[in-house]
Amino acid sequence: MKIAVAGKGGAGKTTVSGTLARALAREDHEVLALDADTNPMLGVSLGVGPEETERLNAVRQAIDDGEVEHQSTTDALIENCGTDAPDGVRLVVVSRIDRVDPGCP
Ligand SMILES: Nc1ncnc2c1ncn2[C@@H]1O[C@H](COP(=O)(O)OP(=O)(O)OP(=O)(O)O)[C@@H](O)[C@H]1O
Ligand SMILES: [Mg+2]
Repeated sequence: MKIAVAGKGGAGKTTVSGTLARALAREDHEVLALDADTNPMLGVSLGVGPEETERLNAVRQAIDDGEVEHQSTTDALIENCGTDAPDGVRLVVVSRIDRVDPGCP
């Protein structure tokens, strides 16, 4: 199942996403939480803390800036651009894909 949360600024997207992810994980669902927000704060909502949230955001920024190679597989993306959050949620901070390169996961 894939769930997307979207809406206007300040509507509660991050709060709803974090709560939903943790609630589903507590019911033993395998949850991969993707933060594609321009101001990615889902890590804080999920409970990984501001420092780890900032670290993940910096990884995404480095990829966006071309300083770090894109990950070549989905597994590598989840492993190298993500972190373990409470209740077993895996959080990955990702970018909107403007131009799909061959092999882009
Ligand atoms: N159901 C709710 N009831 C009351 N307050 C809420 C609720 N959901 C979120 N809030 C509060 O509203 C504010 C905005 O919530 P949140 O950051 O989740 O919105 P957002 O849509 O992600 O915002 P942004 O567009 O800035 O990313 C926060 O202060 C949050 O605590
Ligand atoms: Mg938000």
